[in-house]
Amino acid sequence: MFKDYIVVITGAASGIGLETAGQFIRQGATVVGADMDEKALGEAVNLLGDRFISQRCDVSVEKEIASLAEGVENRFGRLDILVNNAGRGRFVVPEAMEEEDFYYHYEVLVKGPMLLVKHFIPLLRKSSNPSILNVSSTAARHEYSNHFVYSTAKSAVEKFTYHLVRDLPGIRANTILPGWVDTPIYDKAGLSREEIEAVFGSVLPKIPCGRVGTPEDIANCILFLSSEKASYINGACVVIDGGYLRGPDWGI
Ligand SMILES: NC(=O)c1ccc[n+]([C@@H]2O[C@H](COP(=O)([O-])OP(=O)(O)OC[C@H]3O[C@@H](n4cnc5c(N)ncnc54)[C@H](O)[C@@H]3O)[C@@H](O)[C@H]2O)c1
Repeated sequence: MFKDYIVVITGAASGIGLETAGQFIRQGATVVGADMDEKALGEAVNLLGDRFISQRCDVSVEKEIASLAEGVENRFGRLDILVNNAGRGRFVVPEAMEEEDFYYHYEVLVKGPMLLVKHFIPLLRKSSNPSILNVSSTAARHEYSNHFVYSTAKSAVEKFTYHLVRDLPGIRANTILPGWVDTPIYDKAGLSREEIEAVFGSVLPKIPCGRVGTPEDIANCILFLSSEKASYINGACVVIDGGYLRGPDWGI
């Protein structure tokens, strides 16, 4: 379905981004996987082969984004699909928030996607089916405890997507809101495997689909929204959470 497509995925070395890269490649695309974790990028190349082009890029640094776009332009001359997926998060209680917590989240989750779009617009304009997919979170719709910095940043990602629809006619822009997905992000946020299992165990009864999400669940939707089958879907927000947001017993 994506034969000869050129796809840029940020945060492609792990979790949702890695699975999405694999699915695009298996369907014929070439993926430029941008990530700041060089070790994980090397592992992704071994796993996915030579249609995964790894590029070290910190999405919070504009000159690294500019150089990523320059590399794509020199090699391919265009971009078909941009997936703004790179992310990170950590728990912050309001009274202990440091200025650094704000930048930790907003530089990667908000500033990064905005600057990626800025630098890739000229290349997307050269595609016959250009599309931007921004990864937000159900955190944009629900107030998880001690999550306000991450959540408000993810709300901004959702809103940013709708502005793109208005500002960039001819380029589709959609967003997804994943719920609880088992990826290394929780480990990186400082939780032990036991703590992660405890969190998943406590949310499980509230997920009508009866399980926590997988990176594959999310990648399936990213591919659909980026495909020609979704060529009239523009400005959509798809919640992918097994029904969690509409699930039973919020306890209120
Ligand atoms: N896992 C979940 O439950 C969940 C739920 C909702 C939304 N999300 C979102 O999905 C996206 C993917 O997360 P994941 O769960 O696969 O996590 P992950 O940790 O497995 O992958 C995130 C990737 O982003 C990369 N990254 C982080 N900061 C970066 C930067 N400055 N520049 C470039 N790359 C950077 C990391 O190195 C990592 O490879 C994130 O935006 C996350 O917020 C995840």
